[in-house]
Amino acid sequence: MPSEKNGKVALVTGASGGIGREIAEILLMKGYDLLLVARSLGKLEELRKKFKLIASDQTVTVLRADLSHSESPKMIFDFANDRNISVDILVNNAGVGISGGIDEYSEEDLLKMILLNIFSLTALCKHFSPQMKEKRSGNILNIASIGGYQPVPYLAAYAASKSYVLNFSDAIAMELKDYGVSVSCYSPGLTDTQFFDRADIDENNNFYAKKMRVSPKDVAQDAVEMMLRGKLSSIYGLKNNVLAFLTQITPSRNIIARITKKIVTK
Ligand SMILES: NC(=O)c1ccc[n+]([C@@H]2O[C@H](COP(=O)([O-])OP(=O)(O)OC[C@H]3O[C@@H](n4cnc5c(N)ncnc54)[C@H](OP(=O)(O)O)[C@@H]3O)[C@@H](O)[C@H]2O)c1
Repeated sequence: MPSEKNGKVALVTGASGGIGREIAEILLMKGYDLLLVARSLGKLEELRKKFKLIASDQTVTVLRADLSHSESPKMIFDFANDRNISVDILVNNAGVGISGGIDEYSEEDLLKMILLNIFSLTALCKHFSPQMKEKRSGNILNIASIGGYQPVPYLAAYAASKSYVLNFSDAIAMELKDYGVSVSCYSPGLTDTQFFDRADIDENNNFYAKKMRVSPKDVAQDAVEMMLRGKLSSIYGLKNNVLAFLTQITPSRNIIARITKKIVTK
């Protein structure tokens, strides 16, 4: 049973599948109206119908947007404004990876990934935070990755894009905290979603093997809880926390990169 409608709105990017879809459902059950964004409008429409059956008095609005286009964040902001949708929770979840050696990247895929993982996430924070500041309340949840805690050979640009998300989130958290707005950054580890297929990660690679991945529902639950507590940053699971800790206490970045290369190519 969903909680009573709370009159607040959560905007979730990448809500058509994976972790974002689970985050959307958890927020629905907590009484939030939803503004769901992704490229697959059909999947979003299906979700809207399902959510209306679960919580008929809550408003679920869907919007098709490709966040690998630089004009999309402003378009989403204008769409919300035109409909008097005031966003209380912003979840920047949409993200993709590209795998392989640096010489193998397609320039087009690289640009799209950087626009999605870095530019759009940043621009959505920029557009929606002034309203939150004015209301002196709001939560931003940025989805990073355990990969953002160290250099990751053969997933180099993706992991670096997530390092950006970690540092950017911690910095704006300090800027916005005096206005009652919390910024949280959540790092999933290997999670069983479409991510690996989309990133073209080799199924035979032991490190990324399917059996190592956890359920997106568990990850989403943990992420939403930490955001609602206003926690600055959090990583899913003990193993990932230990890995991130070891990375942080290792004095040489060179050593970390060497070890990571061994681990991800075993
Ligand atoms: N799965 C993992 O192991 C893992 C680990 C660490 C971090 N993460 C991070 O978790 C987040 C969610 O990923 P996931 O694992 O749930 O992957 P997923 O199953 O591939 O879902 C990605 C979501 O992002 C949306 N998306 C992709 N490209 C988009 C674009 N250009 N514009 C708008 N939306 C777009 C997709 O919807 P459409 O295709 O409909 O647009 C989908 O809803 C990402 O930021 C990812 O980097 C995942």
